[in-house]
Amino acid sequence: MRFISDINEMRRFSKDANKLGKSIAFVPTMGFLHEGHASLLKKGRELGDTLVMSIFVNPIQFGPKEDFASYPRDLKRDLALAEANGVDVVFSPVPDEMYPEGFQTYVDVENLSKYLCGLSRPGHFRGVATAVAKLFHIVKPDTAIFGEKDYQQLAVIKRMVRDLNMDIDIVGMPIVREADGLAMSSRNGYLSREERRAALCLYHALMKAGDVFGKGVKDAGVILKEARSVIEAEPLARIDYVRVCNTDTMEDLDRITDRAFLALAVTIGKTRLIDNTVLSNAMQGRPLWSPAAGGDKPPPLHNLVYNMVSIQNFGLK
Ligand code: PAF
Repeated sequence: MRFISDINEMRRFSKDANKLGKSIAFVPTMGFLHEGHASLLKKGRELGDTLVMSIFVNPIQFGPKEDFASYPRDLKRDLALAEANGVDVVFSPVPDEMYPEGFQTYVDVENLSKYLCGLSRPGHFRGVATAVAKLFHIVKPDTAIFGEKDYQQLAVIKRMVRDLNMDIDIVGMPIVREADGLAMSSRNGYLSREERRAALCLYHALMKAGDVFGKGVKDAGVILKEARSVIEAEPLARIDYVRVCNTDTMEDLDRITDRAFLALAVTIGKTRLIDNTVLSNAMQGRPLWSPAAGGDKPPPLHNLVYNMVSIQNFGLK
């Protein structure tokens, strides 16, 4: 495995791979890898002759009061994980080379960035789209793989690729969860033991909403009320948003006619977590686990079925 931090060296590597007719699969990350990243790398390994992963904690996607400085970093561990997952090149540029003095060109995916995380994190998606566009130009991938936990980010990147005629296939991969349902995230490491327990309310809220929807309720207001009530019952949780949206445009929906995207952002202690699922008519009549049904843990199979249904109905392209 090769480690490259110089932008020109990365460009040369990709040009040479292209000349040799080797396809490049690319997994952009901010490091502090977990099983969710591993699933992206596994997919990348399947899709490309050469697998490139970037590690770049992108300063321009963090707000002034956000956790850029304290964002968890562990390069040594990340390199070991990358190697174990078949990465050929780790590309880790430095911020000063990515954003040299005088930098002033940004990519703004206007409408999709207006909703959900775009409202609570102004400028976040402009920062993401700009960094990803730059990485795409440098790495020149044929395919790039992103996690569906950042569903809005995935939608923004798909839109950018379409709008700017970038010749890259964007592949979304399902959320990877801990055994108890918590979506894997580099930020989970911020949680104390008590907060880690409390953080489960996000997953429980999704399950509750899925349960209500599965029983035939289509009114987004009713579904949202049920999901919110699960989070509100958790004293350590503070809701940023709970929304039922159109899966393509991210606009709020009043009623679910076919399918919808249910998105949550919740702060537990000082840690802001997001999670989501797609509610689709294919789920109707499926009994989903909910906290009200009792038990400490969701049966893993329900989780699997739930996610499989989500993936099947994940129509963003
Ligand atoms: O999802 C992430 O890790 C980041 O937002 C990304 C896509 C690498 C851009 O900095």
